[in-house]
Amino acid sequence: MGWNSWNKYADDFDEKIVRGMADAMVSSGMAKAGYTYIVIDEGWTSGRDANGKIIPNGKFPSGMKAIADYIHSKGLKAGIYSSPGPQSCWGKLGGGGYQGSWKHEEEDAQTFAGWGYDYLKYDQCTAGQVYDNTTQDAQAAYQKMGEALLMTGRAMVYSLCQYGAHDVWKWGAKAGGNLWRTTGDIGDRWESMERIGFAQIDISRYNKAGHWNDPDMLEVGNGGMTADEYRTHMSLWCMLGAPLMAGNDLRSMTEETKSILMNPEVIAIDQDRGEFHPVERLSGQGTFEVLARELSGNAYAVGLYNRGEQPAEISFRLDDLKFDTGLGSRRLVLTDLWKHAPVTATAKSSPPPYRSMASCC
Ligand code: GLA
Repeated sequence: MGWNSWNKYADDFDEKIVRGMADAMVSSGMAKAGYTYIVIDEGWTSGRDANGKIIPNGKFPSGMKAIADYIHSKGLKAGIYSSPGPQSCWGKLGGGGYQGSWKHEEEDAQTFAGWGYDYLKYDQCTAGQVYDNTTQDAQAAYQKMGEALLMTGRAMVYSLCQYGAHDVWKWGAKAGGNLWRTTGDIGDRWESMERIGFAQIDISRYNKAGHWNDPDMLEVGNGGMTADEYRTHMSLWCMLGAPLMAGNDLRSMTEETKSILMNPEVIAIDQDRGEFHPVERLSGQGTFEVLARELSGNAYAVGLYNRGEQPAEISFRLDDLKFDTGLGSRRLVLTDLWKHAPVTATAKSSPPPYRSMASCC
């Protein structure tokens, strides 16, 4: 869980914004809710110095170590960004304007560790210019940096970003990845979020503690969706057990945005500490989806999603949830985690036991 600069700012951000975001992470309550990493995405490099060391541009005048130190002083962790290609994706030269780590992998890993970074996002970008488009080459490019990070001896989260190519979920962990993007970039639009989110179910089984599918960062609070759509976004990402990287301006969040990003019970589903059980589709008829995921402590999370244009009534049968010990005479507690209110199931026979107007869990 954390924050990343890209969704809100692209490469148009600076050190002041990063420091402000670290301050706001704490003062807004986000840190307490579990958000920990402040990740500087593309846009911080200016090239290499005479010794080949990667260096920041004028938007980061105190240097990357001082910024990581500041983030740490807030009790948070710091993340940085590079690419297996010669340059990264975007920026001043019209695509590929910032520095990548190609042929400098070990050196850059040492530099990032030396500056005190705790997280590296490694973005494909121009890697296609220097690696073949095969699974073997894709894995080799990412594994090279994975091994270089390990060699630093510093514990760093390694975030692979190659948009889900070559079934990365099958080899991302082997390359050293803790999370790997499974799709192209999310946009701050319902169609984008919905298309990406519901395409993750079949690969849910590749999630394991410490190694996660990443359907991309959150857009909650960026203004392109309604509050209901953002609640669906958050609910869906949490049902998937996805990394939660906020991508909005934490310094000016509305109460509604806060209530979505910091819903403790929904976050608890995402962060459930037990063995990860893949999310299952209990039913998906037309525009409705009912997703379920077994949690630790003989509990289930159930997400009721309305993908249509109109309010709808969606139901599921408690019998479809496979509680270990069976329901028997045990007391069952049902809670609506957005309304923070108990829910009453109807009788066992038809109509189905639980009906809700909610469009999400
Ligand atoms: C790619 C990634 C994004 C972001 C940009 C930066 O598109 O998928 O998350 O890092 O590059 O250019």
